[in-house]
Amino acid sequence: MGSPMRIKAGSEEYPLYLAPGLLAAAGSLLREQGLAGKVLVVTNPKVGALYLSRLQAGLEAADFIVTTVTIPDGESYKRLDQLTKVYDAAVACRLERDSLVLALGGGVIGDLAGFAAATYLRGVKLVQVPTTLLAQVDSSIGGKVAVNHRAGKNLIGAFYQPTAVLSDPETLGTLDQREFKTGLAEIIKVGLIGDRELDAFLRQESAAVKQQQIGALLNIIRRACAFKARIVDEDVRESGQRVILNYGHTIGHALEAETDYDHFRHGEAVAIGMVGAAKLSVALGLATPELTQATLDLLGEYELPTAIPGLSAKKLMTRMAWDKKVKDGKLRFVLSPDLGKTLVKGDVPPEAILAVLRSMGAV
Ligand SMILES: NC(=O)c1ccc[n+]([C@@H]2O[C@H](COP(=O)([O-])OP(=O)(O)OC[C@H]3O[C@@H](n4cnc5c(N)ncnc54)[C@H](O)[C@@H]3O)[C@@H](O)[C@H]2O)c1
Repeated sequence: MGSPMRIKAGSEEYPLYLAPGLLAAAGSLLREQGLAGKVLVVTNPKVGALYLSRLQAGLEAADFIVTTVTIPDGESYKRLDQLTKVYDAAVACRLERDSLVLALGGGVIGDLAGFAAATYLRGVKLVQVPTTLLAQVDSSIGGKVAVNHRAGKNLIGAFYQPTAVLSDPETLGTLDQREFKTGLAEIIKVGLIGDRELDAFLRQESAAVKQQQIGALLNIIRRACAFKARIVDEDVRESGQRVILNYGHTIGHALEAETDYDHFRHGEAVAIGMVGAAKLSVALGLATPELTQATLDLLGEYELPTAIPGLSAKKLMTRMAWDKKVKDGKLRFVLSPDLGKTLVKGDVPPEAILAVLRSMGAV
């Protein structure tokens, strides 16, 4: 399988394995990490039907004792009552401190199972087995775990690092195109804000990426994970530098919230948000118009949305004011002075934001 990438998060460190065919090998890899005993696999019906038997066979061949709990599919189930199901299953199979909770699925399962692992017995070991592109490059690393509250997304959560991450890009073959592209948006973000080689690869090798050629996938996933891991290590609890990962997210979150989370996939909203961030950078005299064009070109190449479909600019502004990135009542934006660079601006004039939103189709 090759040697894993080591992800550091402050004083903690864990391996990230990235290779095709990893699911079946999960049992032996976890044994190599010195893990043994009980595993509570958390998954959903769709992912479970596709991948559970392969994973489970490998785990059992390595003498793990496997129990499974299935959560219905969808963001709306990332909530407290579903968490109770995981705790109930953990009690029923007598999970112990050194037992494992294994999240098999996309970001929804990863976040929910991760929060269960962080809290059950004040913390049992967590293994992330992400099966969406978004989860492989974003949610499975960095240690943010959470469930939603009806008042907002991810309101109940923790910072809890996994013991290992096993990413098998072969699982992406069953992902529908829209989900694949939502993950690509986060990878594009990394290219735009901090990895010029990744950005160049995405532009030059777009055919291979779109055809999901395994070599291209491995390259972009590895680079995106390495970038995120580096930022997280510098700022594990998101009190400083880590905020740059939210490039495009201030407008993106507002778009998601304003459309009740059922119009945009997260990456689509972030794609539009990145155009907004580029335009705002230009409007404030921080960047040249080439930044906007380069952003539009790349997102266009991957057929990601770049305009706001007729939503109220004022309502989007109100949503932004509720964003977690607001500090002392002032809107803080992650902006970009040039490709590959970011800066955080704390006093962005509301009129400038309104003008950008309107220039992108908001009314
Ligand atoms: N913790 C973090 O740092 C972090 C970062 C980004 C996003 N998130 C969270 O991640 C969630 C979104 O994650 P997501 O985009 O992976 O969505 P998701 O988990 O809902 O998965 C998307 C869809 O793909 C299906 N699916 C998963 N793997 C599949 C596969 N291999 N083949 C076919 N279908 C498959 C799922 O069943 C689901 O229907 C949100 O809740 C968001 O808040 C967390």
